[in-house]
Amino acid sequence: MNHLKFINQAHDMALKNLGKTFPNPTVGCIVCKNNKIISKAVTSSTGRPHAEEIALKKAGKKANKATMYVTLEPCFHSSRNGSCTDQILRSGIKEIFISCVDQDPRTKNKSINKLKRNKIKVITGIKKDQTLNINKFFFKSIKKKKPFTKVKMAISNDEKIAWGNYKSKWISNSKSRQHVHNLRNLSQAILTTSKTIIKDNPRFTVRKKNKILKNLNVIVVDKDLKIPLNSRILNNIHDKRVIIFTSMNNSKSLKLKQLGCEIIKMKIKNNEINLNKVFSILYKLKISDLMVEAGGIFFANLIKKKLVDEIHLYKAPIIIGEKGIPLIKGNQLNNIKKKLLEKNEFNDNLYLRYEIR
Ligand SMILES: NC(=O)c1ccc[n+]([C@@H]2O[C@H](COP(=O)([O-])OP(=O)(O)OC[C@H]3O[C@@H](n4cnc5c(N)ncnc54)[C@H](OP(=O)(O)O)[C@@H]3O)[C@@H](O)[C@H]2O)c1
Repeated sequence: MNHLKFINQAHDMALKNLGKTFPNPTVGCIVCKNNKIISKAVTSSTGRPHAEEIALKKAGKKANKATMYVTLEPCFHSSRNGSCTDQILRSGIKEIFISCVDQDPRTKNKSINKLKRNKIKVITGIKKDQTLNINKFFFKSIKKKKPFTKVKMAISNDEKIAWGNYKSKWISNSKSRQHVHNLRNLSQAILTTSKTIIKDNPRFTVRKKNKILKNLNVIVVDKDLKIPLNSRILNNIHDKRVIIFTSMNNSKSLKLKQLGCEIIKMKIKNNEINLNKVFSILYKLKISDLMVEAGGIFFANLIKKKLVDEIHLYKAPIIIGEKGIPLIKGNQLNNIKKKLLEKNEFNDNLYLRYEIR
C-alpha cells in the first residue's frame, strides 16, 4: 500500500473544511483496501460528525479488514454513536495510520492505546507537521486555553495605520483587501474595539465582489458601551455571535442583549478591562481562533499581555507622516521578537506574516 499517498489524500480532505469546523479541528479520513479507496470524509462543517464516523458509515461492511488513514487521533470521548475509537473497533478496521496525537486531554493517547490493546496495528507520526499546521489554532488554543490570535494591519511605509485626523481611506490595495477577506474566511471571530467601530463602522463580513459570503462572529471590547446601536456589526445578528465585554449594566446593555448580543460584564482596573481574562472567557465560550482588526492602542495592549500569536501586515508604498496613528502605540515592530513565516507581493503592497516569539 502507498501509505504516504493515502495520508496525503487524508490531508487534502481535511483542507476542504478549513475554517469551518470551529472550535473543532478539521480532520481528513480515508479508508482503503487492496490499495483502493473505499471511502473518504472530512469533519462536518459544524464540527460533528467527525470524519472517521462519516467515512466508516460510507464504507459499511467493506471497512472489515481495511486500513484507515486519519490526520488526527480519533476521539475517545463519546458522541451519539459512541466514540470514533469504538466505531473503528466495531467496524473491523485492522490497521490505522494516524498523523498526529490529539492534544485534547479527553483523547490524548487514550484512543491510540485502546486501539493497540484491541490488536489493531497503529502507526503514528506520518505527516504530523502538516496536521499541526492545518489546525494551528486548535493545538495552540488547547495549550494556552486562550484563542489563537492573529493581528491584521494595513500599514504605510512609515508604519502608520491611519491618518492623524482618523480620515477614512484605504491604505492597502484591492488585492491585499481580498487577501484579508480570505483570512477572515478562515477565522472564527473578529476581535475589535469600540473606537475602531466608531471611527470606521466596519461590517466585518467576508465579501467577494461585494457579495456577503459569511457573517463573522464579532467580539468588541467596549468598556463604556459607546458603540452606536446602528453600527454595521449589528446587522445580520442572527447569522453570527456578537460578544461585548463591558463594565456597563444599563438600559443600553439591555437593548443590545435584546438585539441578540452576548454582554459580558467585566471589572475595570486602572481604566482597563483585563484582556487576559477576556481571552480565557472567550476560550470557555468556545472561541478558539481570533483575527484582531483594531488600532495601535489595542495592539500594544495585546502585545504587552503576550496574547498575539501571528501578525499579518499589508504594507503600502505611501508615507502618512508623524501625525499618523501608529501601528503599536508606544512601541515599534522592530522591538518585537518575531519570526518571518511568509512574504509576498500583492501588486505594489508587501504582505508579511510573522509568528510572535
Ligand atoms: N490599518 C488597519 O489595518 C486598521 C485596522 C483596524 C483599525 N484601524 C484604525 O485604527 C484607528 C483606531 O486606532 P487607535 O489606536 O486609535 O484605537 P484602537 O486601538 O482601535 O482602540 C483603542 C481603544 O480601545 C479601548 N481599549 C484598548 N485596550 C483596552 C482595555 N484593555 N480595556 C478596555 N478598553 C480598552 C480603549 O477605548 P475606550 O477607553 O474608549 O473604551 C482605547 O482607547 C481607527 O482609525 C481605525 O481606522 C486600522
